[in-house]
Amino acid sequence: MAKGFNWQLGREINYPYEPKRPKRQFAVVMDLNKCIACQTCTIACKTTWTPGRGQEYMLWNNVETKPWGFYPLGWDVKLLELLDGDKKTVFDAPEGERILGWKPDDLDWMYPNIGEDEVNEPVDIGTVIESFPHPIWMFYLPRICNHCTYPACVAACPRQAIYKREEDGIVLIDAERCEGYQECVKACPYKKTMFNFVARISQKCIGCFPRVEEGLQPQCVITCIGKIRLMGFINPPEGARQENPIDFLVHIKKVALPLYPQTGLEPNVYYIPPINVPLRFLRQMFGQGAEHAVKTYMAMREGKEPELQAVLHLFGSTPYIPHSFAVGPNEVIAYDEKGKEIVRVPLVEPLQYRPHKDEKLD
Ligand code: SF4
Ligand code: SF4
Ligand code: F3S
Repeated sequence: MAKGFNWQLGREINYPYEPKRPKRQFAVVMDLNKCIACQTCTIACKTTWTPGRGQEYMLWNNVETKPWGFYPLGWDVKLLELLDGDKKTVFDAPEGERILGWKPDDLDWMYPNIGEDEVNEPVDIGTVIESFPHPIWMFYLPRICNHCTYPACVAACPRQAIYKREEDGIVLIDAERCEGYQECVKACPYKKTMFNFVARISQKCIGCFPRVEEGLQPQCVITCIGKIRLMGFINPPEGARQENPIDFLVHIKKVALPLYPQTGLEPNVYYIPPINVPLRFLRQMFGQGAEHAVKTYMAMREGKEPELQAVLHLFGSTPYIPHSFAVGPNEVIAYDEKGKEIVRVPLVEPLQYRPHKDEKLD
């Protein structure tokens, strides 16, 4: 087994192939304080990429309610059992096996909305909740493929049909090479490769690579009604750039955290945890950084983190991929790869006063 350094875990992990970081790495940040589960992202992805036969059940982007929702059924509960706390990564498999994993049953995919809008425990009608975190809570978790730095799907495929692109780190299945062994379905701890029963091959989120190649953010990102998403490229911590919005959120402010980092895959979708949810739940999902992330977000709400607040204004503000940003007194500006301005967002909503028809203004 080769070794690779996983910065999310701060240690080396086992990996079946000699790991090589791509030239740049696709990454998405999602602010869970703002998701309203309107499923616009789900439908945008579905109508763009998976409207075909054999893809009826397939949601490359899904939004599930925590704590009781999951697609496929129980994926996260099974994952935690498999990892035995955080003692193992999925690459610490017993002799003769490549990856620790399991294949969902066909029926496990049939309830994408299970648990939707259900709170953690029964609540009396008329209950008023005023304290943080909330004693009664739920939140929405949108999920896509994490385009992992150490993809379990790549590691598991006996046909070497899955590959990670050098130019942007997007993970793709080669439909010509795939023979439908479904080892990738078994291996992905996030259950983001799915089997097409008609084409007899596996398929997965393609990171909207034709858009990314044009300098555009993915469909699920730009259609998001709640403006909870931002796509860009992430550097490892030692190469973090303060002016890169993704690096700023993940490495500098440390408000955006990977989902189940203990898998060892270095997943590249980062979540700003919801501040209404008790820390013990957030820690098991996002690791020990959850407390710092929540505190920083709360401070922002009190006006103590103006730069962070400014960067959050970039979410949903442009279809173009922002490579850097600058904050002015009244606006935040994003730039493309060549340093050209792509969007300028006011930090305070402009206010227009329209006088009554009989009123005279000085
Ligand atoms: Fe592969 Fe799953 Fe990681 Fe996506 S999330 S790259 S499908 S292991
Ligand atoms: Fe679908 Fe593109 Fe979003 Fe992937 S990045 S879930 S392919 S819309
Ligand atoms: Fe490989 Fe998965 Fe196809 S294991 S052969 S990519 S179904």
